Amino acid sequence: MLQLITYPHPTLRYPSKPLVRVDAQLKELVGEMFDIMYQHRGVGLAANQVNLPIRVFIANPSGEKETGPELVFINPVIKRATGSSESEEGCLSLPGINGMVKRNKTIHINAYGIDGKEIDMQVDGFLARIIQHEADHLDGVLFIDRLSEENKRQVEEDLYGFEATFDMKRKAGLIGTDDKLAEDRKRWEAKYC
Ligand code: CO
Repeated sequence: MLQLITYPHPTLRYPSKPLVRVDAQLKELVGEMFDIMYQHRGVGLAANQVNLPIRVFIANPSGEKETGPELVFINPVIKRATGSSESEEGCLSLPGINGMVKRNKTIHINAYGIDGKEIDMQVDGFLARIIQHEADHLDGVLFIDRLSEENKRQVEEDLYGFEATFDMKRKAGLIGTDDKLAEDRKRWEAKYC
């Protein structure tokens, strides 16, 4: 069973490795990712947010299971990013925190779908923002890294709160040590990367 991880879990800062294999288990894992995303009312989710260190993310701009396309991007590469737009973002791994983030307005994305078919398309608007946010996750980058200095100060207290909660959970044995988490990541990489 996959579980959503929250800041400051180390896997959120881990640059994920390219996927070289898609099997039945991976398809199940991606299905679980969609369930988790809808449960938490999200519009996008990167694999490392459920502690899988592989370059995969999912998106559904409608945020609802019955509506909108269920998109899967494997080994995504963003090219020809142009224009600029600023809008409010949040993140399932930082619940309750929001902030204005500048992104490119239009991007071209190349990736593979879960069916193995190549995706090569130009995207703009909300989906372009989701894709840039999720692609950042795969590199270990969070939207809070892209906030203005003023906005960063505004969320500082909340981040300390997350850090304190994380430390308590770890002391209670609910989250593994750094070594244990690194071992878990290596196991997934041995299987899929
Ligand atoms: Co996020």
